Amino acid sequence: MRDYDSRDGVMIFGGIPVTEIAEEFGTPVYVTDEVRLRENYRNVHHAFSKHMNTEIHYACKANTSLAILKILEREGSGIDAVSVGEVMTCLKAGFTPDRILYTGTSVSNDELRAVTDLGVMVNVDSLSELERLAKIKKGIPVSFRITPGVGSGHSSKVVTGAKGSKFGIPIKDAVGAYLRARELGFEPKGIHVHIGSGGQSVEPFTEAMEVLIEITNDLKDRGIDLEFIDIGGGIGVPYRPNEPEMDVNELGRDLTEMILEETDIRTIKLEPGRYIVCDTTVLLTRCVDVKDAGVKRYVGVDAGFNTLVRPAMYDSYHHAAIGNKFGRACTSKYDIVGPICETGDCLAHDRALPDPEEGDVVVIYNAGAYGFSMSSNYNSRPLCREVLVNNGKMELIRDSERVEEQWRHQRIPERLIR
Ligand SMILES: Cc1ncc(COP(=O)(O)O)c(C=O)c1O
Repeated sequence: MRDYDSRDGVMIFGGIPVTEIAEEFGTPVYVTDEVRLRENYRNVHHAFSKHMNTEIHYACKANTSLAILKILEREGSGIDAVSVGEVMTCLKAGFTPDRILYTGTSVSNDELRAVTDLGVMVNVDSLSELERLAKIKKGIPVSFRITPGVGSGHSSKVVTGAKGSKFGIPIKDAVGAYLRARELGFEPKGIHVHIGSGGQSVEPFTEAMEVLIEITNDLKDRGIDLEFIDIGGGIGVPYRPNEPEMDVNELGRDLTEMILEETDIRTIKLEPGRYIVCDTTVLLTRCVDVKDAGVKRYVGVDAGFNTLVRPAMYDSYHHAAIGNKFGRACTSKYDIVGPICETGDCLAHDRALPDPEEGDVVVIYNAGAYGFSMSSNYNSRPLCREVLVNNGKMELIRDSERVEEQWRHQRIPERLIR
């Protein structure tokens, strides 16, 4: 897990004391370090591109903030999008349609029409989708998402590649799908899997690659030459102190070696989301309440699962520290809880902390992936601010919502007003 320096007992993030950021922008606030974001993108790109032609399609579901997308656009990334909303957001950030791949599941005809009208290539998820797409758009390039029968992930809720998964086309139907696509006049370009999110070992990726290679070579024998293999996302990152990091260089070497040795394909695509954005961002939240409940002690903060849902949704671990008492000896263990009226509203369980007090700035680590993008208005709480920091400079990249904005699309029938 990435850790930070401090100055006079205050944690420094992106060259700035976290207390200063919290003071300037209020809390809760997501703060992203631009330097780390660029570094992560370059690391993963280099791990593969030193071996073969590599196209990174950042899985923007992890974080769709326009400023973050813009930085990645400038770095040369492509996009993996899962909805027409994500496609439109990425176009707004400056990505051209040819750099975006759409990989939906349970895709409606309206969404297929909208995405293909925008000129974006589809990773087809089912035989039903293929037949429906044929009625919507003729002769376009397509790719297919295959269910490799190999799954991996930090929680059973995010394993997507296992046998029987709702995602993708089962292996038994894969070759038939391509043959049917050719019959329907499509141009098959690639093959895709996504095994799951947050796995920490290389093996499931190589197992899934074996499946892709076998199908690719079978297709070649039948006169269908693909241009790319897309191994999806899922590269895990360490969330706990002393947790080992997955070796992306080993992953890049092993996967590219397999493709180069066993196929004629010369382009690999991958779709990391978490790896690129996770450790770029912390969530700053202020301690508003301290409670000793006898059998348990609580630190009440102003961010709940409306702001960061991962601990409540997946039982995910996020490291936490008191930013203005950084490195101080811890006194007791506390649960860090939010303002949402549910017992499950807990950001961190049983954490040793240094004498928490009202006003302290609590820092939640590794909040850049599936953090803001999964936040909600539950309990009518407005979405919070986002700030970008870069070597001592800070910029607001998203303002907080006003409560009034939650009423925008609502109507009270006239008869109830009279
Ligand atoms: C198709 C696809 N690609 C890429 C990703 C990104 O996964 P991760 O953020 O773990 O890299 C996902 C996540 O669910 C996905 O569904």
